[in-house]
Amino acid sequence: MFAPVYLDHNATTPLDERVLEAMLPYLRGRFGNPSSRHEYGRRTRDALDRARQQVAAAVNAHPTEVIFTAGGSEANNLFLKGAAAAFKPGTLAIGATEHPCIRQPALQLQTQGWRLLELPLDAQGGMATAAALELVGLEHPVIVSLMLANNETGAIHDVVTLAKAVRSAGGYVHTDAVQALGKMPLDFRRLGVHAMTLSAHKIHGPQGAGALILDKRVELQPLIAGGGQERGLRSGTENVAAIVGFGKACELLGEGLESRLTGVLNLRKHLEQGLAALGATLFAEAAPRLPNTSFFAFPGIDGETLVGKLDRAGFAIASGAACSSAHPEPSRTLLAMGVLPEIARGAVRVSLGRSTQQDEVENFLLALGQTLNELKQLTAMAV
Ligand SMILES: Cc1ncc(COP(=O)(O)O)c(C=O)c1O
Repeated sequence: MFAPVYLDHNATTPLDERVLEAMLPYLRGRFGNPSSRHEYGRRTRDALDRARQQVAAAVNAHPTEVIFTAGGSEANNLFLKGAAAAFKPGTLAIGATEHPCIRQPALQLQTQGWRLLELPLDAQGGMATAAALELVGLEHPVIVSLMLANNETGAIHDVVTLAKAVRSAGGYVHTDAVQALGKMPLDFRRLGVHAMTLSAHKIHGPQGAGALILDKRVELQPLIAGGGQERGLRSGTENVAAIVGFGKACELLGEGLESRLTGVLNLRKHLEQGLAALGATLFAEAAPRLPNTSFFAFPGIDGETLVGKLDRAGFAIASGAACSSAHPEPSRTLLAMGVLPEIARGAVRVSLGRSTQQDEVENFLLALGQTLNELKQLTAMAV
């Protein structure tokens, strides 16, 4: 089967064979309900305990702080709605470029009486620290959520500084670390947040598994009530195979992390030299950034069109548009950075992975060069 070159690892990653091997027994004979008090149940309960330890160890948390969910979106909703339900409506602050699974629940809370503030960005896509700290100091938000690394630009935000300020203003602070996990060292304690979101499928684990890492002193209302699984915060029989896979994927992260990150960074440098030679505008170029992510545009070239052409040429990359509507809007992240809408409409993202090879990057640059020439010729004919 023809397999296009996959350059979209921030969207999802292929399942690691070792993760699949770890999961298979729990899709076959090891089927017990972890709540059952017999040998079948004990076996799956032990598997959950092991996965909890593996996830906790990957981010320097305690296993009892790991609440398994069906992915990052659910963990983000659980924190935001769960924390909001424990308070009278007050002020809620989120980053200007949060993923929709933070932004949408925040907008819902706004309709329930919460005052919603946005933490501003600088032109490089990082948090505008001075302005954000001033806002926190003045407004004393009860709940604050800021992503650790942005899914589009890869920009890494100064969550440590924000967390200190929010704590001293008496608020709860959460970070969405879905994109950060596996792409930079991640330490729950050092970040100083009350809660942190993770997702398995961004680290070669299965889709549909994630976790909220939660300081045990924080009280949340569950989204799903029922049998009381996950400390009563996420009822429902656990997706044992997926959780086992998540645990294994976390365990594997530790293997040669530094050399893997350096290897990916070197490939990205190579990619970005080629992009510069083709005349790309690179976003968040000067920000501390995830080593695998490049977000860029070419003047006068539509991002969606470029993604479609490259798809037909055998390369899978992402556009920067919000494609949930019939008329894709330019990336909110870029608009929040002050990028003009006509430039933002051209944005496309390449996100490299641990299996990306140098020749794939070189072939991509060749295909991109050809595609740009074709598109420019078409534009020239149209005028
Ligand atoms: C920053 C960020 N947060 C949350 C999510 C949602 O995670 P999941 O797909 O596991 O629901 C994503 C997925 O793209 C993401 O990039």
